[in-house]
Parts: sequence; structure tokens; C-alpha cells
Amino acid sequence: MELLLKAEKPSNRTTMLFRCTAIVALITQTVVALTPTAHTPDGRLVYAVPSGSRIKQKSTDMLVFAPNGTLIHTFQNVIPKGAGTKPSLDKRQELSSTMASTSFTPSVENLLQSFNTTFVVPPAPATFDSQIIYFSSSVSVLHPTTGVRFGNAKAAIQYGGSWLYGTGPFWTYALLVEIPDGHVLQAITDEKITVEVGQKIESTIFSDAEFNEEAPGLFWYIASLPSVSNTTYLEVGWEVPPSVAALQLEEEGVFQASHYPPGPFVFDHINLNMTHDNPAVSWSTSGDLDTNAAVNVDVDGAKDARVSLVF
Ligand SMILES: *[C@@H]1O[C@H](CO)[C@@H](O)[C@H](O)[C@H]1NC(C)=O
Ligand SMILES: *[C@@H]1O[C@H](CO)[C@@H](O)[C@H](O)[C@H]1NC(C)=O
Ligand SMILES: *[C@@H]1O[C@H](CO)[C@@H](O)[C@H](O)[C@H]1NC(C)=O
Ligand SMILES: *[C@@H]1O[C@H](CO)[C@@H](O)[C@H](O)[C@H]1NC(C)=O
Repeated sequence: MELLLKAEKPSNRTTMLFRCTAIVALITQTVVALTPTAHTPDGRLVYAVPSGSRIKQKSTDMLVFAPNGTLIHTFQNVIPKGAGTKPSLDKRQELSSTMASTSFTPSVENLLQSFNTTFVVPPAPATFDSQIIYFSSSVSVLHPTTGVRFGNAKAAIQYGGSWLYGTGPFWTYALLVEIPDGHVLQAITDEKITVEVGQKIESTIFSDAEFNEEAPGLFWYIASLPSVSNTTYLEVGWEVPPSVAALQLEEEGVFQASHYPPGPFVFDHINLNMTHDNPAVSWSTSGDLDTNAAVNVDVDGAKDARVSLVF
């Protein structure tokens, strides 16, 4: 039996989130297996997990705990152990991707504290042809010796409906944790998940300092969209701290200009904040030749940076 103690002591970083449990017992004996409820266009399996679930690395496994502390699933042997013995997230990533990203060197004394940005939900694309478009901010973890990316936590808005809620020509939001071997965990909630054109979205991925103290050796991060919902979030604990932050466009089934929303799409007020010393951050861009989207760094740096996407 595994026991994690969680004190109800909201800090500045966590007050906007609904923290329910005083003591969470993570009981490994009780296993309620998750089954995929959908799959992404590139064949990855999507699992719906209750909002507030905690996904925890244990060596090469990823364990999924429901908000009440029950272990609901174990993804066994999904985290790469040695050099290149497991496919990385990147290698089987088939969604074309355009992004601005930065890497930094965290230490136990100087972790990523928060990665924030704001953006506005754009008008719908002129043509709906079952395309799927994602705008997201995310943090990723890299294998310490191989540099293989083996997980990320992502806060996103999505056009084309959601894999979990059917498809349609509207914007929804999604909080996701990706793990290797083609698994995507998505928070589900009873709240409405659509967002409105013109709505200002605040996105944050931040370190859960209280949980880090109570479970040393793990680095816990919460992904949430506090301007949309203070009660919907997903939390992940990795054995290495995240060292990459990215702002990304992912798309599937986009073949012409009218499949994109009218641009530009702007990630504004990008703030990458470490617990002690902020690194000299510079955003580098990468695109996909098949994509008719370009990414520009309008304002570089760790504070109040700005990245725009033009289509
Ligand atoms: C990031 O956003 C969260 C939630 O809105 C906020 O509490 C925190 O202060 C922000 N961090 C920075 C560095 O702006
Ligand atoms: C805890 O949550 C899981 C998943 O939602 C559920 O199956 C289980 O019945 C809950 N257990 C208790 C004791 O409430
Ligand atoms: C979430 O909490 C913040 C800070 O208390 C508040 O400004 C914001 O309006 C809340 N968001 C929602 C959707 O209620
Ligand atoms: C990170 O953000 C917090 C809250 O905005 C601030 O108090 C702290 O000084 C920042 N850290 C650094 C290293 O700038």
C-alpha cells in the first residue's frame, strides 16, 4: 500500500484551484482499469480521466490515481529506461506541428515554477471539413541521459470538437497528459467544455510545491485554464523535472487556408518563472513544411514574451 499525505493548505499558486482532499490514500491494491474512449487521428489512444486525477511516474510505469486517491490504471513499462530502447513521443508524433519552444536546466533548488500565457479564442475557420486544430502550451520532461522526451502536460483549446465529446465546428478546451507508447490522458468534467470566440484564455502549468514537499523525488505539475474553470485540472508527477516549455499549433486534416481560423493567433504575456533564478530564455521556432502556418517570436525572453502564428 502506498500512502501520500496531502494537506489542505492552499498557497498562492494553488488557491485558484479547488483542492478537495485533506488526506489522500493512494491504495495500489484497488485497480479500476481505464479503457480508451477514443483515439486521435494518428492512432494514439485517448483515455478520459476525472478532472483532478494525478498521474504519477514510478520508475518505468505511469500510475493514474482518481481524485479520491484510488489507483485507476497502471501503464506498465512505458517510460524509456536506456538509450532509445522505447519510442519517444516525438518519433510517433504524426500530427504536423508548428511551435516555439525553449529548454532550460532545472535543479531541485531551481525548478520551473509556472509557465503562463494568455490568448484569445479565434473565430472559427471559414470551412469545416472535419479538421482538428490545437493551440496549446505545454511542458515536457526529457530522459536525463538520452534526452528522449517521455511525457508532457498540456493546456489547450481545440477546434473541430473533442475526441471525447464528438466532433463539430466549435472550440473546446482540453487538459492533457501525454505518455509514451501512444497514450493520451484527458481530463473530463461535468462542466461545459466549449469556449466562446473572443474569450480571453489564461493558461498555466505550475509546480505543486506542497505536493513536491510531501513526495520528494517527484516533481508535480498542474495544468489548468483558470479563466475557464478553477475546478478542472490535471496533475502529473515525474521523477525528473520538466526542462522544455512550448507553445504549439497541431493540426490534422488542414489542407487549405480556409481550414485555419483567420490569423494571426497570438500567445501573449508568456511568462516562464523559475523558483529562484530565471534563466536567459530564448524561444526557437520550428515548423512543418506541409503546414501553411508560420510562427514568429515577436517578443523574446522569459518575461512577457509574445509568439504569433500566421496562416
Ligand atoms: C501564472 O498564473 C497563475 C494563475 O493565474 C498565477 O497565480 C501566477 O502568479 C502566474 N505566474 C506568473 C509568474 O505570472
Ligand atoms: C474513487 O474513484 C473511482 C474513479 O472515479 C471510483 O471508481 C471509486 O468507486 C471511488 N472510490 C471511492 C471509495 O469513492
Ligand atoms: C478562478 O479564480 C480566479 C482567482 O480567484 C478568478 O479571477 C477567476 O475568475 C476564476 N475563474 C473562474 C472561471 O471562475
Ligand atoms: C516568479 O513569480 C513570482 C510571482 O509572480 C515572483 O514572486 C517571483 O519573484 C518570480 N521568480 C523569479 C525568479 O523571478
